Amino acid sequence: MNSFQVANELAPLPLSPEFILPEAKRPQLSEVTSLDSIPIIDLSDHSCNDGNPSSSLVVQKISQACEEYGFFLIVNHGIPEQVCTKIITAINDLFNLPSEQISQLYTADHTKNIKLCNYYLHVEGGEKVKMWSECFSHSWYPTQDIINFLPQNIGTQYGEAFSEYAKEIDSLVRRVLGLISIGLGVEEDCLLKILGDQPRLRAQANFYPACPDPELTLGLPVHTDFNALTVVLQSQVSGLQVIKDGKWITVPAIPNAFVINLGDQIQVLSNGRFRSVHHRAVANKMCERMSMAMFYGPGRDTIIGPIDDLIDEEHPPRYRKYCFSEFLEEFFKQEGKWRMVKEVFELPY
Ligand code: OGA
Ligand code: NI
Repeated sequence: MNSFQVANELAPLPLSPEFILPEAKRPQLSEVTSLDSIPIIDLSDHSCNDGNPSSSLVVQKISQACEEYGFFLIVNHGIPEQVCTKIITAINDLFNLPSEQISQLYTADHTKNIKLCNYYLHVEGGEKVKMWSECFSHSWYPTQDIINFLPQNIGTQYGEAFSEYAKEIDSLVRRVLGLISIGLGVEEDCLLKILGDQPRLRAQANFYPACPDPELTLGLPVHTDFNALTVVLQSQVSGLQVIKDGKWITVPAIPNAFVINLGDQIQVLSNGRFRSVHHRAVANKMCERMSMAMFYGPGRDTIIGPIDDLIDEEHPPRYRKYCFSEFLEEFFKQEGKWRMVKEVFELPY
């Protein structure tokens, strides 16, 4: 590991200052509520009130989750457990490679396709505070092996596990985007068509070592995802938290479940009906944690704006149309801050 210290009960270490957040930005873990939890949706449930796809229970539950939480868990999705176990094991092995090998992947240049990075938060006085995580990110392709793109020293284990995983996630994303479209009252393929046949597909493997003092730092800063849809697989340790009614709630680490969260583009496309919600990852004192986030978003040249069919006199557009590259530019401009990207594209209401 690089600058991480591993908690050790026999010789407890204080948290190194580069990770310590000012008091106002700390996670206040005792205030995280357990009275609410994000919905768990069983994708194998085919119950339906009247044979009409838009009234299937799964669609109704997903729509409600998208309106109220912007997050939901799915179970019985049909992806073999062993495909998920393999990718989590591969992430673990990747981050446990000797540091000379893994450090070659470090870069602060966000234009690089394959990169290992540390996120940070700008705090008052222009200082940067490091987040308690390491993130390995790269493009993904539903039908192409990524092994050829990865540096050789990464080994083939990650590449093989990832290629198999990506194929499964591609079908899952298509299926979920279909259900979300039906929930919006548009054609099943509406969102997929708008996102286009050259979507921006990124994967991010997150590694959170055990942390000497999780109260003083964060694993990932508070953010919304800027893409359209994210599928997160967590190892058996929770750490992801979501804002609901001004309070933080924990996303439980349920075996064989995926976390689905909506990104900013779905909030805009749905004209604000479905929400892209602020979330963060917190560190854990006892256990290390891994997650794999698969991002599905529009291509750079795709035009995004509220879907025409959702606009009428009663529902005027709340966002202006933009080219996704404009959104990306704004996103990178706000690096390290509490980002307000989609707000830049809001129309006066
Ligand atoms: C992300 C993210 C959550 C997690 O990568 O955007 O929110 O649980 N990850 O690691
Ligand atoms: Ni996220």
